[in-house]
This record gives sequence, structure tokens and C-alpha cells, in this order.
Amino acid sequence: MANASPLLTTPFDERSTAQEVLADVDLSGRRAIVTGASSGIGTETARVLALQGAAVTLTARDLVAGETAAAQIRQSTGNRAVDVRPLELADPSSVATFADRWDGPLDILINNAGVMAIPERTLTPGGDELQFATNHLGHFALATGLADALRASGDARIVSVSSSASLRCPVLFDDLTFAFVAYDPFAAYGQSKTANVLFAVEADRRWARDGIRANALMPGGIATNLQRHVDPDALAEARRQAGASSDLKTVAQGAATSVLAAASPLLQGIGGRYLEDCQEAQTIASRAESDGRHGVAPYALDADNAQRLWDISEQRVASLSP
Ligand SMILES: NC(=O)c1ccc[n+]([C@@H]2O[C@H](COP(=O)([O-])OP(=O)(O)OC[C@H]3O[C@@H](n4cnc5c(N)ncnc54)[C@H](OP(=O)(O)O)[C@@H]3O)[C@@H](O)[C@H]2O)c1
Repeated sequence: MANASPLLTTPFDERSTAQEVLADVDLSGRRAIVTGASSGIGTETARVLALQGAAVTLTARDLVAGETAAAQIRQSTGNRAVDVRPLELADPSSVATFADRWDGPLDILINNAGVMAIPERTLTPGGDELQFATNHLGHFALATGLADALRASGDARIVSVSSSASLRCPVLFDDLTFAFVAYDPFAAYGQSKTANVLFAVEADRRWARDGIRANALMPGGIATNLQRHVDPDALAEARRQAGASSDLKTVAQGAATSVLAAASPLLQGIGGRYLEDCQEAQTIASRAESDGRHGVAPYALDADNAQRLWDISEQRVASLSP
């Protein structure tokens, strides 16, 4: 299936590192939040933003781990403007508190935190499936709670870290919690990652006029704590079924598309896209066309789906409001 407009391309690719992507970009005076920055791609994303001069807030559930990451970033970059704040995305009161305490403009919001393939169907106290609640609803509440701060920037970007796992499942509008459809850990993860793309599509449609642009992306396959719930053999089998090679990116490469979307001049004025390997992804017609790591499904970029998910998410967040 062809994309409607020419795909965005950049001089960077799957081997580029985050540091290379932002090598010439001065971020002094810019304020950024990176969720889930106590490990993996989030820590490297925060480090490179700080290296280029941004004031960076790392969010963490485990404040000791968050502070350890922040201390290393301050030490290695010489940038003192790096702090850590608590955020539990599956807890609406934690998200509300974080957003309420934010003061002043926000230039970059990177919705990076995520949890993958929880083995058993698990619901939050509010009744949402845990991966959907964490990966999508928590970030939705965060971004809408910070919308005024993003508007105050005048030139803000939101980055929604999704995954090619989105190819595994659309948003099941009639069964968001897998009450009827048999629960599958990767399908539920896939649903949440499709929601991450649809969020970017609709956020960009609504907020571009306010100077807020939003894009989604697949970072690549990277060995991190994300695989903690997955038996290595089951992960290898899932990759085999998806046709994905076992070649992995480094964390430095895995953060490259995030920082490109967050801060590169190459993305100035661009939104509502799904990126991978520092390029815009091809829209594909079926999973069979993907190698397991590339391509985006039409349902993930669909404007009607995006509006529908936004409305449902607003209702969920309002009903869970502390
Ligand atoms: N690694 C890959 O191959 C890959 C591929 C595609 C997409 N992604 C996406 O990339 C993003 C970063 O993942 P990663 O690979 O860097 O994994 P990671 O090292 O496990 O990082 C995920 C981060 O999210 C945080 N987190 C998890 N649940 C949370 C919650 N309920 N509230 C707040 N924070 C929470 C984790 O904190 P704790 O340490 O406290 O759990 C951790 O800091 C995720 O969105 C993931 O879906 C990764």
C-alpha cells in the first residue's frame, strides 16, 4: 500500500546514534521531560538532550534508579539542569500530581515509558488493561495535563514511543480490556502501541495550530529491561513468527529516532507521522509485508480511529480523575 504523500527522509538511518542525530543542535533554553528514563532508551534519550544543553526532567517509578541515571547524566554531560520526578503512569493520581506540579513552559515531552507482554491479563484498580493503561492512558493523561505548558512553549514537540508491535493488533474499540477476545500478551502490548501512534495523529491534528507537533516512532529492537516479562525462548519465537531478525540495535541507536523527532530541525513543522530508523515508515497492507520491525498499519494512522480513541481516552481519564 502506498503512502498518500512523499515519505519524510533524513540523512540518518538505522545505524545512526542519538548523539550523531543531534550533534549540531543547540538545545540551551529548551525544557524536556522523558518518561521512563531510569533505564534503557529513556536514559540515553535524556542524556543526549542534556548533552545538547536542554534542561531535562527524568520521570521514574524507582527514584533511586532515576537519581542514579540522572547523576550519571549530570556527571558525563556537565549539565546540572537534570532532575528526577516520580511518575507511575498506571496510577491516575500520580500522573495528575506530576502535571499539576509542572511549572512554566514545556518544549519537549517524550512519552517513552512502557511495559511489554504482561503474561496474564491484568486490570488496573480502575478496570483498564494494564499495558493500555500504562503505555497509552497514562501518557494521554500526562500530555493533556501538560497541554497548557506545551502551548506556552510556542514551539513544542511530543514524541510517542510506539513499536512495530503495533502491527500485531489494532485498538479493539469493542473490547479494550480483552474481556471477550482471548488475552495474548503481545496482542495487548500491540494494542497499546497502536494507541501510541493514534495519540500522536490526533494530538497533532488538534494542537498543531497551538505550536505543538506530535510524532510517533519505532525505536528498533534493543535489548533492555523491556523484555523482563518474556521468557527468552518465547521472545525468540515471537520474533521468528513476526519474521524479525535477531539483529538488535544498541541503546545509542535505539534513542536516535526519539531525539530526531524531539529536537532535530529536520522535523520542524512536521507532525502526525510514524517514524522508524530516522525515516518515515512505509504504510503496509498486511503483517506479511513486514520483516517484523518495519512498516505501519493503516489502522494506526487512521484519522477516524485517532479521534475515536481520543474521545474514549478523555472519558476514561475523566472517570478515573482522582
Ligand atoms: N527495547 C525494544 O526493543 C523496544 C522496541 C520497540 C519499542 N520499544 C519502546 O521503547 C520504550 C522504552 O523501552 P525500553 O526498551 O527502554 O525498556 P525499559 O528499559 O524497560 O524502559 C521502560 C521504562 O518505562 C518505565 N515504566 C514501566 N512501567 C511504568 C509505569 N507504570 N509508570 C511509569 N514508568 C513505567 C520503566 O520503569 P521501571 O524500571 O520502574 O519499570 C522504565 O524506566 C517503551 O515504550 C517500549 O515499548 C522498545
